[in-house]
Amino acid sequence: MPTKSKNPYLPFGDQQNAPWYGKDILSVKQFSRPDLNYIFAVAHEMRIMVERVGTFDLLKGKILANLFYEPSTRTSSSFMSAMQRLGGAVIPISEVKYSSVAKGESLPDTVRTLGCYADVIVIRHPEVGSAALAAKHARKPVINAGDGVGEHPTQALLDTFTIHEELGRLDNLNVTMLGDLRYGRTVHSLARLLTRFKGIKMNYVSPEALRMPREVIEEVAAKGYPQSEHATLEKILPETDVLYVTRVQRERFEDPAEYEKVKSAYVITPEVMKPAKAEMIVMHPLPRVTEISMDFDDDPRAAYFRQMEYGLYVRMALLAMVLGKA
Ligand code: NCD
Repeated sequence: MPTKSKNPYLPFGDQQNAPWYGKDILSVKQFSRPDLNYIFAVAHEMRIMVERVGTFDLLKGKILANLFYEPSTRTSSSFMSAMQRLGGAVIPISEVKYSSVAKGESLPDTVRTLGCYADVIVIRHPEVGSAALAAKHARKPVINAGDGVGEHPTQALLDTFTIHEELGRLDNLNVTMLGDLRYGRTVHSLARLLTRFKGIKMNYVSPEALRMPREVIEEVAAKGYPQSEHATLEKILPETDVLYVTRVQRERFEDPAEYEKVKSAYVITPEVMKPAKAEMIVMHPLPRVTEISMDFDDDPRAAYFRQMEYGLYVRMALLAMVLGKA
């Protein structure tokens, strides 16, 4: 992928030869195992720095445009926090109805504009391929924060970082993804990214109507990874190391009656979790609705709140990388 804006006038200190300098982050397909080790190492450093000093000036003078066409709490605020903890500034555009988008401006024109004012653009948009389209027209690096039912690469990076921080390894794991595997973009990215590690077995538990897309299953199979599909969790739970729970994505259903049929298909409770290992984790990209009972939150295996904190460190690492400071 070409590097954007190789600029001879860039301020002193930008490492134009840094491997991720000026690169877009659009899909997990871009990342090799050594890339992941590098990102995790930088994220780990970011964690130490945040714990020690809170905020520091690595990206002082840089500006992030945070462009959200879909609702978000964690992704949007963690990118803003990441930029500000690194001493940079943010142009937040989360109410696109107050921007020129409401006047009918096209996505290419909006990102052309933001590329004039910001050094990096984070985008979330309801259409698959929108981040790639934005990247084509923006002069500055674009980071995909979710393109419809497509991908959510920064979430998969923080998910794998979470697994590593929590379980101390990313090889030889039995990973069970549960819930809406059809419309949940996080699991599409996660299943693909897990193929960078050794000895991974993936289990997919979903209602019939919400099965993992064929395309993802075929990609994972082509890399030689074992996968299995199930309608219930029972059989697979005792051998699971990572249980990745997802929300049924109500906003993606064309027929509300179909949503009603599947919305409460699975609920994780302390009772349900009894047959699970003592040393395993339960993850969720959040927001949760009813799929994990609040009674489970105090269980040490409930890793979902720690997971969202790891997101800050991973996003700090990614911003520093594409801006040539890591
Ligand atoms: C997810 C998303 O937006 O895809 N949320 C997130 O980014 N943490 C999951 C979801 O909305 O269910």
